[in-house]
Amino acid sequence: MASTVLLLLMVVAIHGGSDWSFASDTISADSPISGDQTVVSRGGKFELGFFSPAGGGGSNYYVGIWYKKVVSQRTPVWVANRAVPIADPASSRLAVAANGNIVLTNEVGKVVWSSNVSSASGSTAAAVAVILDTGNLVLRRESGGEVLWQSAEHPTDTCLPGVHLGMNKITGDMQPLVSWKNAGDPAPGMFTMGIDPDGSSQYSITWNRSLTFWSSGKWNGDAFAGIPEMISHYKYDFKFVSDANASYFAYSLPDPTMISRLVLDVSGQVSMMMWAPSAEWMIIWTGPHRLCDVYAVCGAFGVCNEKSEPYCSCPPGFRPSSAGDWELGDHSHGCRRNNPSRCDGGTNSSVHGDAFLPAPGVSLPINSSSPQASSARDCELACLRSCNCTAYSYGGHCSLWYGGLLNLEDTGGAMDDLLYLRVSAMDVPSSKGRKRTVVFVSIAVVASIILALSIIVFVVVRMYRKRQRSKTFMQAASEGGGLVAFKYGDVRRATKNFSEKLGGGSFGSVYKGTLPGGGVAIAVKKLEGSLCVGEKQFRNEVRTIGVIQHVNLVRLRGFSSRGGDRLLVYDHMPNGSLDKVLFGGSPAPAAALSWRARFQIALGAARGLLYLHEGCRDCIIHCDIKPENILLDKDLVPKVADFGLAKLLARDFSRVLTTVRGTIGYLAPEWISGVPITVKADVYSYGMVLLEIVSGRRNARCWPATEQDPSLSGYFPLVAARKVSRGEALDGLLDERLRGDADLRELERACRVACWCVQDDEARRPTMEQVVQALDGVVAVDVPPVPTSLQALGEGSAFLMSARTSAYLDDFSRYHIQDSS
Ligand SMILES: *[C@@H]1O[C@H](CO)[C@@H](O)[C@H](O)[C@H]1NC(C)=O
Ligand SMILES: *[C@@H]1O[C@H](CO)[C@@H](O)[C@H](O)[C@H]1NC(C)=O
Ligand SMILES: *[C@@H]1O[C@H](CO)[C@@H](O)[C@H](O)[C@H]1NC(C)=O
Ligand SMILES: *[C@@H]1O[C@H](CO)[C@@H](O)[C@H](O)[C@H]1NC(C)=O
Ligand SMILES: *[C@@H]1O[C@H](CO)[C@@H](O)[C@H](O)[C@H]1NC(C)=O
Ligand SMILES: *[C@@H]1O[C@H](CO)[C@@H](O)[C@H](O)[C@H]1NC(C)=O
Repeated sequence: MASTVLLLLMVVAIHGGSDWSFASDTISADSPISGDQTVVSRGGKFELGFFSPAGGGGSNYYVGIWYKKVVSQRTPVWVANRAVPIADPASSRLAVAANGNIVLTNEVGKVVWSSNVSSASGSTAAAVAVILDTGNLVLRRESGGEVLWQSAEHPTDTCLPGVHLGMNKITGDMQPLVSWKNAGDPAPGMFTMGIDPDGSSQYSITWNRSLTFWSSGKWNGDAFAGIPEMISHYKYDFKFVSDANASYFAYSLPDPTMISRLVLDVSGQVSMMMWAPSAEWMIIWTGPHRLCDVYAVCGAFGVCNEKSEPYCSCPPGFRPSSAGDWELGDHSHGCRRNNPSRCDGGTNSSVHGDAFLPAPGVSLPINSSSPQASSARDCELACLRSCNCTAYSYGGHCSLWYGGLLNLEDTGGAMDDLLYLRVSAMDVPSSKGRKRTVVFVSIAVVASIILALSIIVFVVVRMYRKRQRSKTFMQAASEGGGLVAFKYGDVRRATKNFSEKLGGGSFGSVYKGTLPGGGVAIAVKKLEGSLCVGEKQFRNEVRTIGVIQHVNLVRLRGFSSRGGDRLLVYDHMPNGSLDKVLFGGSPAPAAALSWRARFQIALGAARGLLYLHEGCRDCIIHCDIKPENILLDKDLVPKVADFGLAKLLARDFSRVLTTVRGTIGYLAPEWISGVPITVKADVYSYGMVLLEIVSGRRNARCWPATEQDPSLSGYFPLVAARKVSRGEALDGLLDERLRGDADLRELERACRVACWCVQDDEARRPTMEQVVQALDGVVAVDVPPVPTSLQALGEGSAFLMSARTSAYLDDFSRYHIQDSS
C-alpha cells in the first residue's frame, strides 16, 4: 500500500472578500428570502438559503445552513425541509409567518416546513429569525429577545460546537442525529444517533430505528467509557450535563480558527471531522471505529471491505438492488441476484434452477443452522432443497443460512471454508455450455491468428521507429539543469513497461529504469489513484518541485503525463531507502551501518529538511518524513524524497490518513488535534526517525525486557526520553549490533535533539536550523523533558488517532499493552 504524504502550504483564503458585508442576517415578516437570496451570519461564518445537494440531480431544493467562510466545499450542517424537497426556489419563500413561526412555502403557497411552535403566536410579526455565527438559526421575539425556537435544538445529521445533543427532560423531546438517506438526499436515512432514552449518559447508534449496534459507554467525567481516546483530543472541550431540565452532550473549540463538526454520515458511522489546511474534511475519530462494524452497512448480500474504495461491493452473481442509491452511498437496499433465483415462492421443490457461486474472501456470517450432511455435495443439496436457504458452507460440517445475509465482510484473507451463495444457474459457468465453448474456441483461434499477424507488423514498424525516438529521448533527458517533459511511451520503454518495481512509495509505485544509451539509472514514480489536479496544475506544481535542488534532496529529472497517468522521473538511489539499510538485512554486526554513517545520515537529512523549510523561495512542509523517504546514494549520502508532493496530492490526504498503516508513529500530535500544520510537524517526524537511527529498530516495535537493564523495555521513544531526561547513560539505547562502538558525545547530542523534536508543544520543538547546529555541536543542548503524549502512551491509554485507522491503531496499542503487562 502506498504510504502517506501529508500536505500543505495551502492557506485557504476564500474570505477577505466583502460579498456578505451587505447581506442581512435576519429573516422577518417583511424580509423573506427566496431563489438565490441568502442570509449570512454577522461574522460571515454561516449562510442560510436554498440549495440543491451535490449528487442529488439538481432538481430538488432544500433550505439549509452551510459554512460560508474557509470551507470551500459546500457542506450543509442543517436542513429544514429534509424530507420534503421543493422544485423551484425562485417561487418558494422562507419567511416569518403571521403566527410568528418561520415557515417555508412552496411554489403553490403550501406550507412545506414550519418551526411549528405554538407559543410563537401572540402578537403578529413579533418574531424574527437570525442566523448566528455558531451556525444556529434562532427564532426570537423582536422585543425582549425571548427565544421561541432554534435550529440547534433540532439538529439533522450534524452536531456543531455548542449544540446540545441529548434530551429535554421537561418536554421529553429527544434531539438525535439522523443520517441523510444518501449523499444527494437529506431525507431521514437508516441511522439514528442519540442519547439512550432511559436518561443514562450513554449514546447509541441505531439502524432502522430499532437495532442498536454501537454505544458510547457511560460518561465518566472526562470521556465516554467506550471512547477513552477522547481525552487525548486535547484541543476540544467535551462535556456532558445532566440537570433537572435536560441531559446533553456538547463540545466546544477553544481555538476560534478551528472548524469542526460531528456528523452521523450516510454510512452509519458518527465522525468527528475537522477542516484541514489541505482544504479537505479530515476524519479525526469515528464510532464504530470500523466501518464494517456498522450494522447492515452494505445491506442484504452486500459485502463490506474496510480497505477498499468503495467499501461496499456485491458478491459474484449479484448486483446492487438500487444502483442509483448505491452510487450515492445508500446501501440499505443491498444486492440482488443478476438473474432471479428460479426458486421463488418456496412451492416449487425442483432443484434444477439454482446453483451456487463461492464468495472468495468473505468470512462466514453468524447465525447458521447445521443440518446433517456428510459431504459438501450433501450440504449443497440440503440448501437447494429449502427455498429460503441462501447460502451454505462445508468445512467438516454443514452450515446453512436463510434469508437476506447482512454484514458480510471481505476480510481479504484466504478462507478455510468458502461461503457459497445461491444464484441462478444462468450465472454459473457450467459444463452444459460446451457447445458454446466450441464456438468460442473457434472464434478465439481465428482472432489469435489475426492478432499474431498484426503484432508482427507492429513490431517491425516499431523497431524502425525506435531508433529515431531513442535519439530524441536521450537529448531530452540529458539537458542538464532543467526539468524534462518526457514522452509517456519513452518512460514506459525506459522502465521496460514498468516491470522492475522498486517499492510502493507514497501515492504510487516506484519503478526502476535506465535512460537509453546505457545511461543513467532512474526511478519512476507512477502516481496512483484519484489525482484531482488537472494537467496544467500538475505541470505547475512539478515545475516548482523541479527547481528545488540540494545535495540532500532527491533530484527530480522530469515528468510525464498522459491522460490520467502521471509519472515523476527521479535519479535512482542505488542504496535504497534508510529503512532497508537500518531495519532490513541480517542482524550480523558487520552488516549494520556504522555509527559514523548513521550520524552523517542524520545530519544530512536534517540539512535537506532545513533547505526545504527555509532555503527555498516558498517554505515547503514535507509532511511525511520517515525512513522510507530518506534515500541513500552510492556513498550513503542521504537524500530526502517525495517533498512537494503533499501539496500536489493534498486532496487525497484524508483517504491516506485513513488507509495507511505504519506512518502513524511519525505523525506529530497536531495532525489529529486539529491545529494548522507548520514546519514543526516535520521536526517531530524527524525526531522519531532520529531515534530509530540510534536504536536501529522501529520505534513502534516493542522492546523486550533484557536481563541487564529492565528499564529498556517498552515503547522506545518513551524509554529514550526518560533516560535522557534523567541524565542516565545512553549507550543502552544504541543499536546492539554496533556493540557500543559509537561516539558517546554524538550519541548524547542525537538523543537530546530527538527528544526535543518530539515535544508535544510545537513551540518547544527546535527549528531544523537549530537541529543542524545542535548535531554539529555548534550549540549546546539542554536536557529535554519527557513529552506528555509519550507518557500517556506509556501508561497504556489509547492514544493519538482513531478515525478509520483503528486497524493500525490496534497493532500499535497491542505493542504497549504487551509490554506493560
Ligand atoms: C406541526 O405540528 C403538528 C402537531 O404537533 C404536526 O401534525 C405537523 O406535522 C407539524 N408540522 C411540521 C411542518 O412539522
Ligand atoms: C425497517 O423497519 C420497518 C418497520 O419498523 C420495516 O417495515 C422495514 O422493512 C425495515 N427495513 C429494513 C430494510 O429491514
Ligand atoms: C430549568 O428551567 C427552569 C425554567 O425554565 C429554570 O428556572 C431553571 O433555572 C432551569 N434549571 C437549570 C438547572 O438550568
Ligand atoms: C418448477 O420448476 C420446474 C423446472 O424449473 C418448472 O418446469 C416448473 O414449471 C416449476 N413449477 C412451478 C409450479 O413453478
Ligand atoms: C441470531 O439468532 C438469534 C436467535 O434466533 C437472534 O436473537 C439474533 O438476533 C440473531 N442475530 C442476528 C445478527 O441476526
Ligand atoms: C423456510 O421456509 C419453510 C417453508 O417453505 C419454513 O417452514 C421454514 O421455517 C423456513 N425456514 C427459515 C429458516 O426461514
